[in-house]
Amino acid sequence: MSFSVLRTSFRRAAVPPAAARTSKAFRSPAFRKYSTEVPKPEGAGKSNAALFAGLGLAVVGGVGFWIYSSDSNKAKEAGTAVRSGVQSAKAAANFTPTKEDYQKVYDRIVEILDEASDADYDDGSYGPVVLRLAWHASGTYDKDTNTGGSNYATMRFEPEALHGANAGLNVARTLMEKVKKEFPWISYGDLWTLGGVCAIQELGGPKIPWRPGRIDGFQEQCTPDGRLPDATQGAQHLRNIFYRMGFNDREIVALSGAHALGRCHTDRSGFDGPWTFSPITVSNEYFRLLFDEKWVWRKWNGPKQLQDAKSKTLMMLPTDYVLVQDKSFRKFAEQYARDQDLWFKDFANSVSRLFELGVPTSQWVSSEQWIMKSSDEN
Ligand code: HEM
Repeated sequence: MSFSVLRTSFRRAAVPPAAARTSKAFRSPAFRKYSTEVPKPEGAGKSNAALFAGLGLAVVGGVGFWIYSSDSNKAKEAGTAVRSGVQSAKAAANFTPTKEDYQKVYDRIVEILDEASDADYDDGSYGPVVLRLAWHASGTYDKDTNTGGSNYATMRFEPEALHGANAGLNVARTLMEKVKKEFPWISYGDLWTLGGVCAIQELGGPKIPWRPGRIDGFQEQCTPDGRLPDATQGAQHLRNIFYRMGFNDREIVALSGAHALGRCHTDRSGFDGPWTFSPITVSNEYFRLLFDEKWVWRKWNGPKQLQDAKSKTLMMLPTDYVLVQDKSFRKFAEQYARDQDLWFKDFANSVSRLFELGVPTSQWVSSEQWIMKSSDEN
């Protein structure tokens, strides 16, 4: 393992015009399925250089510990060694980030999410793909073995970056890398989950309580393939996956409402199209459409997905449609379709918990979660 690898430690969106709602598979010329490049310290400022030097020392400590130990429990301990090293490096660099420093990162992410409109990307915001990155980084958690989750940001590494479920997330990781270069002191896990919080809040959703404290881990801490849900499956599969993370039926339904945002891409998951008419606005439209529209199997040369019979422009995955078919899921989906405030409340609680999965309590920099200011409050 090279040293450089170890060093890595819309605003409220208007409904887009009809043209922007039509199905459009994004093809990135720079599409690559490799893990995110590690940041180079050269661009860092003076105090950051000192911080990096300190981080280097910290990592050497972690490496020594790592070489000494080999199984995954030991890997965790090695992570802890790095963490304490990182903390002393921060102290040595005389820089301990405050809530205001994290707010600056949030504000910079807001600008980057908006750059999608100039780049003519999808529906005009990078928010959806950035939220998907935060969720896939967190949703690998297994409560029985206490492995996975947002702590170590292991999707930076192969093989996790190459897991089928993560196809296309290189787009979000590359965007977040820009932020990382400007704020090299933030851990990837904190950065990616803050990106998810920012996407939800800036696209008109509820406030998501969040706090920093995640640390960067090692390639050896990558989770096995198969921990994220497979959209072709049914209710039992959803329960297996989300119960493993510690969620219940109500929370599974609340979390699924994230599909108010974004779209499927044929060159990523193979599925195609948006779930709602306003894919860059967080609302309960996803739940309303599930009940108000007639859904039929799309006849096409692609994976099994449903389409609305009327406009034929919207889609539902088999795992979305089970929220209507399964009695227990349906009860909550109906409540959320009727009451957006209720869904906002449950969604905020569930997402906040999702983003904290796998992070030991001792790592949090604050016992209270923080509410980051949205751009319209600044
Ligand atoms: C319930 C099980 C879930 C399944 C089977 C599932 C599956 C998928 C699939 C197949 C895509 C399309 C990816 C692409 O082609 O670009 C997608 C996109 C997305 N998912 Fe999920 N997902 C699930 C849960 C969630 C959760 C819990 C969240 C967040 C809390 C979420 C947020 C998103 C977002 C925002 C997108 C749009 C990404 C974009 O526009 O690029 N999903 N999901």
